[in-house]
Amino acid sequence: MDKQKIYEIVYFLKSTKGIDFSGYRLQILERRIQKRFYYTNTENFNEYYEYLRNSPAELNNLFDVLALNVSHFFRNALTFELLRKKIIPEILNKKKIQNENNIRIWSAGCANGDEPYSVAIICKEFLDRKENNFQINLFATDFDEKSLNKGRKGIYKASSLRNIKYGILNKYFVAEDDNFILSDEIKKMVRFSFFDLVNKHSRFPSESIYGGFDIVFCRNVLIYYDIEIQKLIFDRLYNSLNQNGYLILGEAETIIKDYKYSFRRENNYCKIYVKSD
Ligand SMILES: C[S@@+](CC[C@H](N)C(=O)[O-])C[C@H]1O[C@@H](n2cnc3c(N)ncnc32)[C@H](O)[C@@H]1O
Repeated sequence: MDKQKIYEIVYFLKSTKGIDFSGYRLQILERRIQKRFYYTNTENFNEYYEYLRNSPAELNNLFDVLALNVSHFFRNALTFELLRKKIIPEILNKKKIQNENNIRIWSAGCANGDEPYSVAIICKEFLDRKENNFQINLFATDFDEKSLNKGRKGIYKASSLRNIKYGILNKYFVAEDDNFILSDEIKKMVRFSFFDLVNKHSRFPSESIYGGFDIVFCRNVLIYYDIEIQKLIFDRLYNSLNQNGYLILGEAETIIKDYKYSFRRENNYCKIYVKSD
């Protein structure tokens, strides 16, 4: 593996696009960059670097292949079932007792919006019930502007909706040609902003976004990063959560060693944790 060349490529991307992938695991960088060889007619990291330096368009392609913004609605369906059946009702009960009526949720690394909109759809069902009188603040952040814009538009292909129940599809989407257009009532529930979880100097979303959360989703993001960077991300996730707030990770992710005693696992079958120290 040409480690030095891989990092030259990564630093070149950083200097031109302002996004730093050097904290990604080396193997992921290697595999992802290699994927571009075929499309650029190059055969090794040296040749690819030369190509990249002379092709602004390729910078965007490389960014896309590294950002890995694949997602779909209700990914890991069981997690969303638990959200509906257990987590949201528990939060609502607690808030009632505390005389509060505001629920704050953050989807960190939201890609094209499939995840925060899935949460919004579940919350909408609660909001529609007469006995519930509360407000939802749902924030979605990513460092990929293209994904954020897709999220704001709320237009999806059928593949994004493969986990959706017919009733929900029918209620909140309109089919047009090959696309499914999300209804405005769901779209307006989610606020999208740029936020780089790793860059300490990243432009922050407004203060209101960065704390006091009842639930934080950070799924299928940590998995790409080295342990030191995971630690940095965990610091941010931990600090942004309320005491007893829920942290929801991707299926292949887990709490890092430094935070082992700061969270307890909600159950054995989903990566849902409760901030508990
Ligand atoms: C595989 S997608 C996961 C999307 C969604 N959370 C899910 O599980 O379906 C990973 C997303 O994390 C974003 N991402 C990766 N590193 C990031 C960082 N440092 N700051 C913000 N977003 C990041 C990528 O742009 C991408 O949209």
